[in-house]
Amino acid sequence: MDTNRRSTTVIGLLYPGEMGAALGRLLRSDGLRVVTTLQDRSPRTQTLSRDTGLEELGSLAAVVRTADVLLSLVPPTAAVAVACQCRELLAEQPARSTRRIYVDLNSISPVTAGQIAEVLAAAPVDFVNGAISGSAAYLTSRGVVYLSGPRAARVAELLPKAVAVQVLGDVPGQASAMRMLLSGLAKGVVALFVEMALAARQADILEPLLTAYQTSYPGILEVVERSLPTFPRHAVRRGQEMAEVETTLTHLGLCPAITASIREVIAAMGNLWQGKDENRNWSVIDVINDLHRRQLLQQPRAEM
Ligand SMILES: NC(=O)c1ccc[n+]([C@@H]2O[C@H](COP(=O)([O-])OP(=O)(O)OC[C@H]3O[C@@H](n4cnc5c(N)ncnc54)[C@H](OP(=O)(O)O)[C@@H]3O)[C@@H](O)[C@H]2O)c1
Repeated sequence: MDTNRRSTTVIGLLYPGEMGAALGRLLRSDGLRVVTTLQDRSPRTQTLSRDTGLEELGSLAAVVRTADVLLSLVPPTAAVAVACQCRELLAEQPARSTRRIYVDLNSISPVTAGQIAEVLAAAPVDFVNGAISGSAAYLTSRGVVYLSGPRAARVAELLPKAVAVQVLGDVPGQASAMRMLLSGLAKGVVALFVEMALAARQADILEPLLTAYQTSYPGILEVVERSLPTFPRHAVRRGQEMAEVETTLTHLGLCPAITASIREVIAAMGNLWQGKDENRNWSVIDVINDLHRRQLLQQPRAEM
């Protein structure tokens, strides 16, 4: 795409939470105009928007009217509702020679992506299904944005140059499936590790087991060390995400066995912590000791 066409494209960012602000900052540093609205948004989002230097419009209607490409980055549970709000506003817009694009970048299952495609089907907009792998803090070093849908290649050209982007195909839902299957493996590794480490804690061999894992499976330990210390804060959300992974597998025609157990273990961790310890810096051993103290996996599964 020529540079001029790219720089005149207006991005409507819904909304600058953690990931939206990270992406918005990169889009702005690429020279794109990024607009948002803070109508109905909390003080946190207002602060993030101002820190990111986004152009703030008075309403969602003004964003929809102004933007060529709308990016949805909201809690997965709000993804369909935000698409519905945009559809109502898009229906009121005069026709354009180049249709707008609505990109959902939320961590949703392909089933939910299909619902959004249906919501937008009659609106004057093209839907691109997207999904971000990696955290906002490491978007440029470890993040990958997956895209699918007929105009995914056009969106790939617009996304920040500093972020890896992969177009998977023409079918909305492929990007969501990719994200779900990547996150299912990462969470599964952590859940299996927790089960083994709690058994080691019972046998009083936790530290030697960690040393042996480090020697034999350094790659797996790297995943655990990066991810497990963030579970006290995020286990509730990750349990919900595992439910979406399970839905994805069912949607794809499987009867998942291991996936269901991973969801149970992570949901049980979420029930124990409820995100209360978010200000503490945890080590892997801290997490295992805390889960042992809270008796995770010490009751029959139905009672977890
Ligand atoms: N953060 C990450 O590292 C990461 C990584 C990969 C994927 N993602 C995905 O990116 C998306 C956004 O995540 P995030 O971490 O940026 O979340 P976040 O920090 O909670 O931001 C969510 C944004 O959506 C707004 N919002 C909340 N409820 C809404 C509703 N009902 N309608 C409209 N807007 C609403 C929030 O505004 P208020 O402040 O008013 O609540 C906030 O601006 C999620 O789908 C997540 O799975 C995030």
